[in-house]
Amino acid sequence: MSTVTLISFTDLQKDLDDSGLLLLLDKIFFEKGYDFRGYKKTSLKRRIKRRMHLNNIETYEKYMEILDSQPSEHQRLFDDLTIKVTGFFRDNHPFYVIRNKIIPDIINNPHSPPFTSPIPSLVRRGERGGKGGLNNEIRIWCPGCATGEEPYSIGMLLSDVLKDDISRFNIKIFGTDISETALESARLGIYGSSAFKDMKEEYRIRHFFPMDSRYRIKYSVRQLVRYGIHNLARHTPISHIDLLLCRNVLIYFDRGLQEKVLRDFYYALKPNGYLILGKSEVIISEFRDAFMEIDREARIYQKKG
Ligand SMILES: C[S@@+](CC[C@H](N)C(=O)[O-])C[C@H]1O[C@@H](n2cnc3c(N)ncnc32)[C@H](O)[C@@H]1O
Repeated sequence: MSTVTLISFTDLQKDLDDSGLLLLLDKIFFEKGYDFRGYKKTSLKRRIKRRMHLNNIETYEKYMEILDSQPSEHQRLFDDLTIKVTGFFRDNHPFYVIRNKIIPDIINNPHSPPFTSPIPSLVRRGERGGKGGLNNEIRIWCPGCATGEEPYSIGMLLSDVLKDDISRFNIKIFGTDISETALESARLGIYGSSAFKDMKEEYRIRHFFPMDSRYRIKYSVRQLVRYGIHNLARHTPISHIDLLLCRNVLIYFDRGLQEKVLRDFYYALKPNGYLILGKSEVIISEFRDAFMEIDREARIYQKKG
């Protein structure tokens, strides 16, 4: 006897809804190169529906027409889909562990790997990979760094720990993001008071100078960080990393994309290198044997050597 599967009206509605969404995501990818196809559908839908509402339309089909007739809507949609909330020393505790355990550990276990960057803008003019003989290279990567507060926080900690000895180290902090506008403000390094709410006053006094009603990060920290476009969904990872902070980014990705990105991170890290995720993020089960949990609360993991 054959069985008939009954599809409920809500399921049908959901499938129709998702097929419109998938067409829209394909359109964005093929026309603009932004690949949101591996992002969690629930938050994508919420944000796209908000843009549709602001444009007074109700279907994905009509919204695609708006994208064709108003090219600036592409940028507005992109800005709404890439949430750039951040701050210096955000969620404090991981930075305490970085300051007191991870940096001392990296300094005591230096490596000098050959290096070629897949991102040309991250290599400064005249600089080549693998500076032979310099054993004190420290390489840190913050993918999804938004406007730069996270990589600069690490720069301040390194300066705090190493003090005058910092010049003896070849330090490279890579701040990467999918958003060029976010990276432009990261390079400028000028921040309003809301960016400082989790940061000790003494750091602001030591590492910033006032500029109008805001503050600019000093060159001594700024020069430790270099910024470049990097799309976690599509680009090759940076390699030979001692410490990789990717916080509050994986939370937007579906399981398939999380798996791809965690695999990239695994290969990006040196043996015993550290990985730090955001406080609502965990290593998915496929990678539990590849990383050791160092601090559950701070979401700190170490690649098994
Ligand atoms: C919420 S912010 C996190 C900022 C910082 N890591 C923190 O925790 O304070 C998320 C950042 O991820 C970036 N992002 C989103 N998708 C990305 C992708 N595929 N590749 C790289 N960065 C991405 C966004 O542009 C945004 O700047």
